[in-house]
Amino acid sequence: MKKTIITIDGPAASGKEHIARYISKKYSLKHLDSGILYRKIAHLLLEKKIKLGNLNAFKRLINNSPVITYRKSKYLRSEKISKMASKIAIFKFVRDYVNKTQRDFVKNNKIHKGFVIDGRDIGSVVFKNADLKLYIEVNEQNRAQRRYKQLIDSGEKSIYQKILREIKLRDKKDKTRKISPLVIPKGAIVIDNNGSFKNTVNQIRFFLDKL
Ligand code: C5P
Repeated sequence: MKKTIITIDGPAASGKEHIARYISKKYSLKHLDSGILYRKIAHLLLEKKIKLGNLNAFKRLINNSPVITYRKSKYLRSEKISKMASKIAIFKFVRDYVNKTQRDFVKNNKIHKGFVIDGRDIGSVVFKNADLKLYIEVNEQNRAQRRYKQLIDSGEKSIYQKILREIKLRDKKDKTRKISPLVIPKGAIVIDNNGSFKNTVNQIRFFLDKL
């Protein structure tokens, strides 16, 4: 049986995860957060104290690590790991590894009838033939404000201006990297997530009901 695939791409803190979780629940699709895979690799690198310049050690780490899973953890959301994740995401060997992990997971999964997957290159590279592609847009200030609140609520110390700077930097890195930069995937529906969640849901419901 063909599995339904919905992709959700967009910049940092644009609310992709919130939207993906909503779709996952309402349409009984498994939610996969691709950012977690990059965050786990970033965490491994920091934990093993491997310098980004030491590519041989970095490649060895990836080749020898047990399969990276989608399991989430609060510490993976820290700003330190966010920064490192966008640094390692520029390497082709990292992206190849993460893309294969995602495709294998979907191919080998016998439980779920479909998936909703969020990230930066899901509709443009990883699952180009998805049944529905969404691209989420939110201005920088709103994203920084939302991320700031998230961090404060989770007990991390945070400064709004610093978050805004880091979001701008991550956007720049994601949009200008040579391999799989963040783009609006071909055929994607652009969703404005600056307003209320209800407003966002109203924009996507029409497309979901057509599936
Ligand atoms: O989505 P999240 O903020 O958890 O992603 C962490 C970082 O991983 C992003 O800033 C981005 O650089 C990278 N990433 C990516 N491609 C994806 C998902 C995440 O390059 N599909």
